[in-house]
Amino acid sequence: MISLTSSDPSALSVDALVVIVAQRDGTPVPLGGRVPPFVAELLADAAALGVTGALDEVRKAPAPGATARVLVLAGAGPEQQVDGESLRRAVGAATRELAGLSSAAVVLPVEDLPTLRAVAEGALLGAYEFDRYRSADPSRAPLGAVQVVTGLSGTHAQAELTRAQVVSQAVHATRDLVNTAPNDLYPEAFAEAARTAVKGLRGVKITVLDEKALAAGGYGGLLGVGQGSSRPPRLVKVAYSAGRTKRSVALVGKGITFDSGGISLKPPADMDEMKSDMAGAAAVLSTVVAAARLGLKVSVTGWLCLAENMPSGTAQRPSDVLTIRGGTTVEVLNTDAEGRLVLADGLVSAVEEKPDLVLDIATLTGAQMVALGRRVSAVMGTDEVRDQVVAAAGATGEQFWPMPLPEDLKAGLKSKVADLANVGERWGGMLLAGLFLAEFVGDTPWAHLDVAGPAFNARPAYGYTPVGGTGTGVRTMLAVLEGHAARS
Ligand code: BES
Ligand code: MN
Ligand code: ZN
Repeated sequence: MISLTSSDPSALSVDALVVIVAQRDGTPVPLGGRVPPFVAELLADAAALGVTGALDEVRKAPAPGATARVLVLAGAGPEQQVDGESLRRAVGAATRELAGLSSAAVVLPVEDLPTLRAVAEGALLGAYEFDRYRSADPSRAPLGAVQVVTGLSGTHAQAELTRAQVVSQAVHATRDLVNTAPNDLYPEAFAEAARTAVKGLRGVKITVLDEKALAAGGYGGLLGVGQGSSRPPRLVKVAYSAGRTKRSVALVGKGITFDSGGISLKPPADMDEMKSDMAGAAAVLSTVVAAARLGLKVSVTGWLCLAENMPSGTAQRPSDVLTIRGGTTVEVLNTDAEGRLVLADGLVSAVEEKPDLVLDIATLTGAQMVALGRRVSAVMGTDEVRDQVVAAAGATGEQFWPMPLPEDLKAGLKSKVADLANVGERWGGMLLAGLFLAEFVGDTPWAHLDVAGPAFNARPAYGYTPVGGTGTGVRTMLAVLEGHAARS
């Protein structure tokens, strides 16, 4: 819950009062015209409090000049560099630290709508806890209600709060799916979760293809990857139609509910993190839900490519040949390069409906993390769409970096027996995966988002990002959709 208040922050009966602090010439200064005077007095001895204003720093102090039980000073870094994302991070770090309390007030550091958006998003994104498998622990319960102390009011300000609420619920839902154990979230269970997520949403239609329907439709990628598991694959289509709009966007998500590697088995170290290999599909589902809840004037169709990649007597073998929907044959040389196989089916299905634009999102390659680390995602594709994604990400505070699709690397995907092999040489592995996917989009404007690193945060929590599923991609894809909605 988030709301606006123009009351004197020192008189608010809340558990915590949050003030953003930036660094000016090496000293911490509180931001915002409504910061109560006692805060500046306290900061006169900032060193003793351990307050520097550095990004991600959260310090708590008594609040003798306020009704609140505690004053929280959240660092946003050097003042000249303060932007939407550093504010989002600062506020998110603060609300994350306030788990167990029921209410907080945040002083808006700058009185404008973009700042309100950042602060509201940060506050809500930081107030997250995945407690499904834990005994009840009130001290870890996410912060309950947040009031933003500001002179802003009226419909535009309220609309920002509503949007922040929808966005953060979408991110939280994505994190929940990623964090759910794979013995509970297998393809059929994911499809059921999708049905539940869209229940009652206006303009949204859901279709689930089970293994029989997949066989009838020629979805060889999903079937090949899923055949080693006792829990069969699914293709879920979630379509939101905005009525009269002409523009349509398709979103395709990799939904490997667990990636053991299959017969090309992964090493045991960190294999547990492969429960997050469905993060793309989770982000797609949540983005469609958010688009519908916001009533965006753009049609969006999400495709969730769900399978479990397991080794067994029925599993596919290296050297098996699959026929992807549409007829392209693929020789499976490494069963651990499974994401591209299920995405190929999803991309072909998406493109059949002639959308104006296709985005796919996947925890696709370890090479993504080698290239860009754990916090920066990669985007490849048609120049214009790729650049749209980079711009949209920049505006939302997610980090996506453009990567090329060099034609000459394509030779590496040659197969001795089929149209394509699913792996080639190791070098440029992320780009090669992108080139493989490009074979299935024809000339539809398209971008491929590889979120292998950023989708899952092994440790530690930082800013508004918890340990575990992060919800990466939701805000960027939603921003792309908003961009297209504005045009139609
Ligand atoms: N899901 C993995 C990629 C991954 C690795 C995501 C680590 C997040 C963290 C993917 O299915 C995979 O196994 N890719 C292989 C491809 C290779 C066999 C060409 C990889 O990157 O090693
Ligand atoms: Mn794999
Ligand atoms: Zn995988």
